[in-house]
Amino acid sequence: MLVYLLTYGVATRHPDGGSRGAYCRGSEAGNARRGSRNAEDRLSDLPQVFVTRRLPGDALARLSERAQLTVWEGTGAPEPSDLLNGAQDADGLLCLLTDRVDAAFLERCPRLRVISSCSVGVDHIDLVAATARGIPVGHTPGVLAQTTADFSFALLLAAARHVVAADRFVREGGWTWGHRWDPEGFLGVDVHGATLGVVGLGAVGRAVAARARGFGMRVLGWSRRRREVDGVQRVEFDALIERSDFVTLHLALTPDTRGLIDRATVLRMRAGAVLVNTARGGIVDEAAVAACLRSGHLAGAAFDVFRDEPIAADNPLLAAPNVILTPHIGSASVSTRARMADLAVENLLAGLDGQPLPHGANRS
Ligand code: DGY
Repeated sequence: MLVYLLTYGVATRHPDGGSRGAYCRGSEAGNARRGSRNAEDRLSDLPQVFVTRRLPGDALARLSERAQLTVWEGTGAPEPSDLLNGAQDADGLLCLLTDRVDAAFLERCPRLRVISSCSVGVDHIDLVAATARGIPVGHTPGVLAQTTADFSFALLLAAARHVVAADRFVREGGWTWGHRWDPEGFLGVDVHGATLGVVGLGAVGRAVAARARGFGMRVLGWSRRRREVDGVQRVEFDALIERSDFVTLHLALTPDTRGLIDRATVLRMRAGAVLVNTARGGIVDEAAVAACLRSGHLAGAAFDVFRDEPIAADNPLLAAPNVILTPHIGSASVSTRARMADLAVENLLAGLDGQPLPHGANRS
């Protein structure tokens, strides 16, 4: 399969190129040495790294000075077979949250010395299996907290005040002379003076709490570590669920948090409450939320993340009223995605050098 001369190196044909995708292979160092007698030998001294998508910013260009990169250039994320093709002879893997790295995959990648995910969440990687094989796993905490908090708050405001439905109404021609100002149209719930429950008081949860205080909200917080945060009243989980007008989720998906917001919990939320999820879909019983939106028990919800991504065609949230659905874009700002790529490359290079990763995520 023909691939192109791109930033990272020499155009080549990848022997295993999949039918719907392409790999681009090369390195800046390799380019600089092209033409020299020993170029091929020296190129083969560089560690081999498989990168599962192009990344914003110049992090990959820097990585290409130290490694022989193969960058997936196919449409969308690589399929599992493409991922394996790319990684099976690699020393390093730079992946995304769309790439499943499980024990069977690791078994088939015997050379892998480091895995670096360009994400803070690492629920797509079997950390126990990686740790057991002595493979350090890196992630990108910290740099996306403010951007994700901005987006969480945007969703909260939009859900409270029907912003998306009102926009659709205007575009679809509903705003006619007969409906020029409707005293009962698009009535939402007030954000100011309301109580926000923040589930998870890590960097994103704390950043959302700070925004909420600026909007005149009372803020309750719960975290498994029983973290104390200025301006946030720490309460038990049940109290948060029962007392909050808005509940926003900021937890990693782990065996402990999977299904935390189950049917019984959704039913215990206040009548007329709004639920926002920018964390991970597996934390929430989506069917229970859809049912409570239909019954009117919940006034609204906004989800950026789903149990299955991309969202399954039969996901009950798609047919539920008063819910805003976005395609996992909480961290999607130009500068944040570039900073995530920078951290991912720092982790990867440290791992290739046999150094501790600046942001390691291993678990045994
Ligand atoms: C992450 O990095 O885990 C986020 O979900 C991306 O937005």
